[in-house]
Amino acid sequence: MYENFDAELGWAALHMPRTRAAVAALPALNGVRLACNMHLDLKMAPLVAGLIDRGAEVFLTTCNPTTVQNDVVDFLVKKGASAHAWRDMSDSDWSDSFDKALAWGPTHLCEMGADLTSRLHQSSNGPAIIAGLEATGSGISRLGGVTPRYPIFNWDDLPVKEGLHNRHMVGLTAWHTFFQTTHLTLHEKTVVVIGYGLVGQGVAAAAKAYGGQVQIAELDPARALQAKYDGWPVVDLLEAMPQADVIATATGAKGVLAAKHLQALKDGAFILNVGHVAQEIDVPFLKQHPHSQPMPYVDAYRLPDKTLYLLADGSMFNLTAGYGDSLNAFDVTLAVMAAGIGHIVDAGKDWQPGLYLLPQSAWKAVL
Ligand SMILES: NC(=O)c1ccc[n+]([C@@H]2O[C@H](COP(=O)([O-])OP(=O)(O)OC[C@H]3O[C@@H](n4cnc5c(N)ncnc54)[C@H](O)[C@@H]3O)[C@@H](O)[C@H]2O)c1
Repeated sequence: MYENFDAELGWAALHMPRTRAAVAALPALNGVRLACNMHLDLKMAPLVAGLIDRGAEVFLTTCNPTTVQNDVVDFLVKKGASAHAWRDMSDSDWSDSFDKALAWGPTHLCEMGADLTSRLHQSSNGPAIIAGLEATGSGISRLGGVTPRYPIFNWDDLPVKEGLHNRHMVGLTAWHTFFQTTHLTLHEKTVVVIGYGLVGQGVAAAAKAYGGQVQIAELDPARALQAKYDGWPVVDLLEAMPQADVIATATGAKGVLAAKHLQALKDGAFILNVGHVAQEIDVPFLKQHPHSQPMPYVDAYRLPDKTLYLLADGSMFNLTAGYGDSLNAFDVTLAVMAAGIGHIVDAGKDWQPGLYLLPQSAWKAVL
């Protein structure tokens, strides 16, 4: 993806002043063994490199093999990180990576999606983790089924994360990626957004700003009502399918767009996902049909009566086919993450096991 990695890394670091300052304010991290399970794209590099410079030992795994940028992993390994992550690694390699990270003996975890914590809690063995951080709504949902053996600090639900990154960046970057990938705009198109959390709200607002005619499908009655109060038509998902030109899943849940929905779509409809899990769409159903790739990241599946276009194989579209968040917005996200790492290193041992919102005192100085 990068034509000149060093130049792009320098550009990213230049435009992330809050992250640079937050890393500089961290205590010395000698003795900290930090396993990071995260999207490994360019924007993560300045932060992870900064942690290594501060003395941390780092083991990198990914929360999503389709978003890994191998240049970033190579760079961070040269900086001294250990890693078991590469673009499009197989499911079994991906699963092994969690065991390898845990066998490496981390003292702290920094996660997006709770893969390491979930794996660790499947057995009574494993490293004695002092504290962890979780950055995603999907990870927080998974942790609902776990009784943590160490304190885990949720920072997805901080207004500064969900209100900024989830609400404003995902929609903007998803549609930019749509334009670049398909060379089409949303004008004259009916866009159905599935899920009206902060991400879906931003995806809907950005689609409207870019000329789309937006409808919302939402299971939760309170969120559906909120969508109505925000002025959106709220539709039944199955009934909306025949009119939809573009469908965006933004739920973080599995099996949202099932075979019956896909069969009800019209010829030429586009399908994309911005949620954390690739299984929001029944991609295996589509893969039963003949297929071609008219454009990079655009797969055309020929059903008996129509062609459907699946973008980025149903994985997180804005990060897989595009650059994801802008540097300025992600600067805030990463500065909070760096402050969170400072918190789990400094104070993690003083908290009882459990799931907590990252306290404001830990991050407010970095804004
Ligand atoms: N692509 C990105 O860059 C990016 C960035 C941040 C978060 N995310 C991911 O986006 C997803 C959504 O995040 P969020 O903060 O809005 O989550 P959220 O949990 O607040 O909202 C998800 C909404 O989807 C609804 N939903 C679930 N199943 C549904 C179904 N079958 N039909 C209709 N609605 C359904 C839920 O009721 C909920 O209101 C998460 O997986 C999150 O990790 C992606």
